[in-house]
Amino acid sequence: MQRSAEYLKFPLFRARRIRKLNWIRNLVSETQISVNDLVQPIFIRDEKVKDKTISSMPDLERFSLKNISKEVEELCKLGINAVALFPVIDKSQRSFEAKEATNPNNVICKCLRLLRKEFPDLGIICDIALDPFTTSGHDGIINKFDEVDNDKTIEVLSQMSINYVKSGCEVIAPSDMMDGRIINIRKNLEDQKYTDTIIISYAAKFSSQFYGPFRDIIGNNKKNINKNSYQLNSKNRIEAVKDALADIAEGADILMVKPAAYYLDIVRDLKELSFLPIAAYQVSSEYCMIKNCAKKNIFNYNETVLESLSCIKRAGADIIFSYFSKEVAKWL
Ligand code: PBG
Repeated sequence: MQRSAEYLKFPLFRARRIRKLNWIRNLVSETQISVNDLVQPIFIRDEKVKDKTISSMPDLERFSLKNISKEVEELCKLGINAVALFPVIDKSQRSFEAKEATNPNNVICKCLRLLRKEFPDLGIICDIALDPFTTSGHDGIINKFDEVDNDKTIEVLSQMSINYVKSGCEVIAPSDMMDGRIINIRKNLEDQKYTDTIIISYAAKFSSQFYGPFRDIIGNNKKNINKNSYQLNSKNRIEAVKDALADIAEGADILMVKPAAYYLDIVRDLKELSFLPIAAYQVSSEYCMIKNCAKKNIFNYNETVLESLSCIKRAGADIIFSYFSKEVAKWL
């Protein structure tokens, strides 16, 4: 027997038989979304940052070191295994060289020490990129030619990674798309005997319009900023695979595709072409589009959120970073 349309002749074959009743739909469902698939991104604000919320990311909070423990406790109770930390830095701490990124007492290092102590079993994933810390809003250091300097930037990323690992982070997630950052970080970790640190490489991160609300919530949204010189061209598929293969060779443990929904072909490609677990990031605008449409009664909120996540999983994602994670965990 092989898969052939020959066998599918009406009325011997009626596709609707196994769709009619809920119980059979459940039994034949090929994809199941569970809390084990989900990572909750969390924004941690420096104490100098006063605004707790911003209008472009509805229902999300910038947590402080004072109230983050309560939030994480709730997440743990809901069964969420891991969080991804992103800093919200005060303007006064941004600099040309992103100095605050390598401050061993920056808000992420402090947060790590706090959470590691209170939640020893929690997965803590740290974003490694300079954009929260630079005056330019770019993910790298600008050189005298007004370009993002690749090799200077990866040195800073390496130092930042070591600081985070020393503060209790076991998963480093470089999201900047500089060349050679994975090998540089991996070598540094090995040299310093941090042999078990996991690297999730944002290997297929596209230059996308869908990051806008994220840039608002980290407080560093430069109008018309263009990251095309390092992030992938959204029109390219082979190039994404090439980047991902390079990152595997450099020592990545898990590959990330970002954004998720419009890039499911890439999720499938990486799932089929590599042996690594694949993560997909349902980014800020994907979240906002669903939130805002649901608020206008354009569709049912819960059903749409679950559909969006199930489809990302169906495409091949093992891990999903989603701002809906906490809410979804309550429904499951
Ligand atoms: C920074 C970074 C971005 C996101 C995650 N890490 C924005 C960017 O590259 O400009 C976007 C996430 C989202 O939109 O939810 N390197």
